[in-house]
Amino acid sequence: MESNAKNARNILCIGAGYVGGPTMAMIAARCPQYKVTVVDINASRISAWNSDNLPIYEPGLLGVVKEARGRNLFFSTDVEAAIKEADIIFVSVNTPTKTFGGGAGKAADLQYWEKTARMIVRVSTADKIIVEKSTLPVRTAAAMSRILNANDKGIRFEVLSNPEFLAEGTAVADMQNPDRVLIGAQGTPAGIKALDAIVEIYANWVERDKIITSNVWSAELSKLVANAFLAQRISSINSISVLCEKTEADVAEVSRAIGMDSRIGSRFLSSSVGFGGSCFQKDILNLVYIAESYGLDEVARYWESVVLMNNYQKRRFVSNMISTMFNTVADKRIAVFGFAFKADTGDTRESPAIDVVKQLIEERARVVITDPEALDNAKIDLAGCLDKVEMLSDPYAAAQGAHAIAICTEWQQYRELDYKKIFDSMEKPAFIFDGRNVLDHKKLFDMGFNVFSIGKPALKHF
Ligand SMILES: NC(=O)c1ccc[n+]([C@@H]2O[C@H](COP(=O)([O-])OP(=O)(O)OC[C@H]3O[C@@H](n4cnc5c(N)ncnc54)[C@H](O)[C@@H]3O)[C@@H](O)[C@H]2O)c1
Repeated sequence: MESNAKNARNILCIGAGYVGGPTMAMIAARCPQYKVTVVDINASRISAWNSDNLPIYEPGLLGVVKEARGRNLFFSTDVEAAIKEADIIFVSVNTPTKTFGGGAGKAADLQYWEKTARMIVRVSTADKIIVEKSTLPVRTAAAMSRILNANDKGIRFEVLSNPEFLAEGTAVADMQNPDRVLIGAQGTPAGIKALDAIVEIYANWVERDKIITSNVWSAELSKLVANAFLAQRISSINSISVLCEKTEADVAEVSRAIGMDSRIGSRFLSSSVGFGGSCFQKDILNLVYIAESYGLDEVARYWESVVLMNNYQKRRFVSNMISTMFNTVADKRIAVFGFAFKADTGDTRESPAIDVVKQLIEERARVVITDPEALDNAKIDLAGCLDKVEMLSDPYAAAQGAHAIAICTEWQQYRELDYKKIFDSMEKPAFIFDGRNVLDHKKLFDMGFNVFSIGKPALKHF
C-alpha cells in the first residue's frame, strides 16, 4: 500500500467543526512538512475559517490558525478534489443522536459518516488511510471498512480510530499538551503501517509515551467511556447537591473533602444546573443503546441514570426558582446570565440554559438572555419562541428591572460585575439563582439579594 508509507504527506479532514478545524490547525502548525486541507459542505463555515472571524470561539485558536493558514493549512469546499489528493483522511463529521426510526433518541445517527465513506470510495483513485475522528459506536470501523473496501477499483482503505479528547473552551491547550493521544488500528501488517503513519504525525509535538495505541474497538469504546465517566461524576455530585439542600450540608465542602482523596481526584466535582455540550448526553445514550443491543439491560440502565439525573437537576433548578418566587414567575422579568453550555465557548448545543429558558417561557416569565459569545446560537436554539425572549449583550441592561438573575454559565465576567449597581436596578425582593456556584454568595446576601445556589443553604432575608 503506497499511501500507507511513512512519507504520506497530504492530510485531509472532512468536517470543519469544533473538532476538525482546531485539530487540523494544530497539526498544520506543528507539522509544516504536511499539507493539511480541511473541507466542509457548509460554505459559510469554510469562508469563516478563511477569515479572522473564525466560525467558533476558542481562546488562542486564531493564533494557531494564522500560523499555518496559507502555508500548509487550507480550508475548502471542494471535497472531491481534496479526497483525490489525500493520503490520509480524518473524518470529523457530526454524529448526533438519531431522531427517527429504530434507536431514535439513543443511537448515533451515522448518515453523515456513511455518506462521507461512500463519497471517498467514489472519488478515490489510490489507497488511503481513513481515520475516525468523530465519536462513533464501537465497531463502526468494521462497517466503514466493509463499505470502503467493497470497491471494484482495487483500492485498499485502512480504517483507524483516533478519537478526539479535547474540551471546548480549552481546546488549544488540550491539543498542544494532551493527556494522551489514542490511536486504534488492526493488528495486520497494513494496519500497523497505517498506525505508524498517524503516530508519526503526532510525534512532531506530543511526547512519545503519551501516544498510546490499541485495537480499533478499544479506541472507539474508550471515547464513549471517557465521556460517560466525566458526565457520571457531574451527575453523582449533583445527586448529592439535592441531599445537601435538605440537610444543610454544603456541596462545595463535600466536594472539597472527597476530591482531596487522591483515589477520587478533585476535577469534575462541581455541582451545577447540569452538564451540557454536544457530546456527554449523546455519547452516554449511544453507550446505553449499544448495551441494550447486546441485551445488557443492567449496564444500560446504570449509564442511563446519569442522563436522567442531569434532566432532574435542570428541572429542579427552575422549580426551585418558581417556588422561591412565591410560586409564580408569570410576567416577571428574569435575566439569564449565560447561554453557552460552559464558559469560554459560544457553543450552546444541549446547554442547560436552553431547558431553563424554555421552562421559564412556559411559566410565562419575561426572559432576558445575556451571553458574551453565544447569543447568535441562542437565536437558533430558541427559533420557535424568539417573540417571548429578549437578548442583550450587556448584563447590566439585562438585569435592569428584573426580579431575578439565573446564572447558567460560569463566565469569568459574571464574577466581576458590580452587583451593587445591579441590585439597585432590580425589582425587590431581588433574587439570584446561582446555577454554577460561582458568585460570592455572602457578599451578595449582604447587599440585599436573596441568594439560592446549588447544594448550599439558601441565604434569604425573609
Ligand atoms: N465538540 C467537541 O467538543 C467534541 C470533542 C470530541 C469529539 N467530538 C466528536 O467529533 C465529531 C464532530 O464534532 P463537532 O463538534 O466538530 O461537530 P460539528 O457539527 O461542529 O462539525 C461537523 C461538520 O461536519 C460537516 N459535514 C457533515 N457531513 C459532511 C460531508 N458529507 N462532507 C463534508 N462535511 C460534512 C458539517 O457541515 C459540520 O460543519 C462528533 O462525532 C463529535 O461527537 C466532538
